[in-house]
Amino acid sequence: MAGLDLGTTGAKAGIVDAGGSIVSAASAAYNTSTPRPGWAEQDPSDWWTAACTALRRALSAVSLDAGEIAGMGLSGQMHGSVFLDERGDVIRPCILWCDQRTSRQCTWITSEVGTGNLAAWVQNPALEGFTAPKVLWLRENEPEAYRQVRRLLLPKDYVNLLLTGAAATEVSDASGTLLFDVARREWSGPMLEKLGIPSEWLPPVFESGEPVGTVSARAAGETGLKAGTPVAAGGADNACGALGMGVLASGRAAVSIGSSGTVLAPTASPSVDPGMRLHTFCHAVPGTWYMMGVMLSAGLALRWFRDELGEPEKSAAALKDADAYDLLVQTASLAPAGSGGLLFLPYLTGERTPHSDPHARGVLFGLDLTKTRSHVIRSVLEGITFGLKDSLTIMTDLELPLSSVVSGGGGSRSRFWRQMQSDVFEMPLEAAGTSDAAMLGAAMLGGVAGGVFPSVAEACDAAVAFGEHHEPDPGSFEVYRLAYSRFKALYPAVRGLFGD
Ligand code: XUL
Repeated sequence: MAGLDLGTTGAKAGIVDAGGSIVSAASAAYNTSTPRPGWAEQDPSDWWTAACTALRRALSAVSLDAGEIAGMGLSGQMHGSVFLDERGDVIRPCILWCDQRTSRQCTWITSEVGTGNLAAWVQNPALEGFTAPKVLWLRENEPEAYRQVRRLLLPKDYVNLLLTGAAATEVSDASGTLLFDVARREWSGPMLEKLGIPSEWLPPVFESGEPVGTVSARAAGETGLKAGTPVAAGGADNACGALGMGVLASGRAAVSIGSSGTVLAPTASPSVDPGMRLHTFCHAVPGTWYMMGVMLSAGLALRWFRDELGEPEKSAAALKDADAYDLLVQTASLAPAGSGGLLFLPYLTGERTPHSDPHARGVLFGLDLTKTRSHVIRSVLEGITFGLKDSLTIMTDLELPLSSVVSGGGGSRSRFWRQMQSDVFEMPLEAAGTSDAAMLGAAMLGGVAGGVFPSVAEACDAAVAFGEHHEPDPGSFEVYRLAYSRFKALYPAVRGLFGD
């Protein structure tokens, strides 16, 4: 089977065998444009170019006939708005999940719809990143573009459209639109009516492992896939990541550090956080949901550090043919747990869970003359980890049964950071078998659509492996508990100082 993860910074394609081994993988990057501070847009045609490049490269790296690929599945960055006109052409660049321009629209939705109806109709609060506020923004700010809209798609669904010719979506990604009744797994009539968004713009909704079509002859020419290959509806990156990490049912949480950071806990029913700090979304497994906390800048905060302040590690990495992130973590490991009291709030692009504050910004607190680069880098890693703990704490306060976590995403590659997570969360932790869990999960959905596996659960049984097991070190609890309590006190103390 083949999987493609349409991420925030690039597309990653993989060819995966029925035992879950990634036999070949390749990626291709694309740019994000920031027309104004806080905005983030991508050109959907760049996704297609990157998807074709990554698929062709992954296919050419294995000696296999494309006809042997039983099914194809996509995982995608959530919430982005792809507006199509009556000919199916893209009207304007996609407004991404991390774009913060829609605060006014969110305030309007919250007061117009009411938090009670939001919980009852779409099970989630109105947040800047979600899709519906982007549609209202377009209506108010680009009326000419709005008049041309005939179809609204999510990022991976647009790529599926180009692959198969079918406009479709599925429950896990539709959950993040704020137009979807997550509890009933269908579009929300009352929400669409209240916001004045035509229901004809929305595509039919499938379960994630259902086939939506097959690779067209034209797409076969561009991607190297064989025409007629079944294509699954696919899933949101977080849902697919959880599949690839074997997190299907309650008991375990998937903690993933990519650009964003997420903590995802499956539930057997659509539970809603009364404080609306967590999202409630459909899982890519039929009859299953999950609650999720989202940090907007997790890996992104470390990437910022690498790019702006990480010159020593970048140069050393170039000389040694090493990865600058690995060297940054090595430097961090020279500082003590708790970073000698230094704290980092990783809110570089605002924050969702737990603050829901688009105006929050990064803070480095507690510098003195004894602090070194090691302390600063360690405080960045700890700040991201404490932000993830905020979500886990809400979940345990809501009495979700959580006894261990699986760590995935790029942030799970470092043994040092995984142990830090286990120590800070005070929970046993398994490393995901791959840092490309979303791509693996997408390929598994392709396998379900192509008949390799009878169900998503059986795909997981066959294809998911785990890496190293970590036990929390009780010797570290005291220092991390103290640091975490100070981390929690810092944001309320500076909140009033962030501009708007
Ligand atoms: C989830 C979210 C992010 C994106 C990143 O609500 O906004 O995790 O899915 O791709």
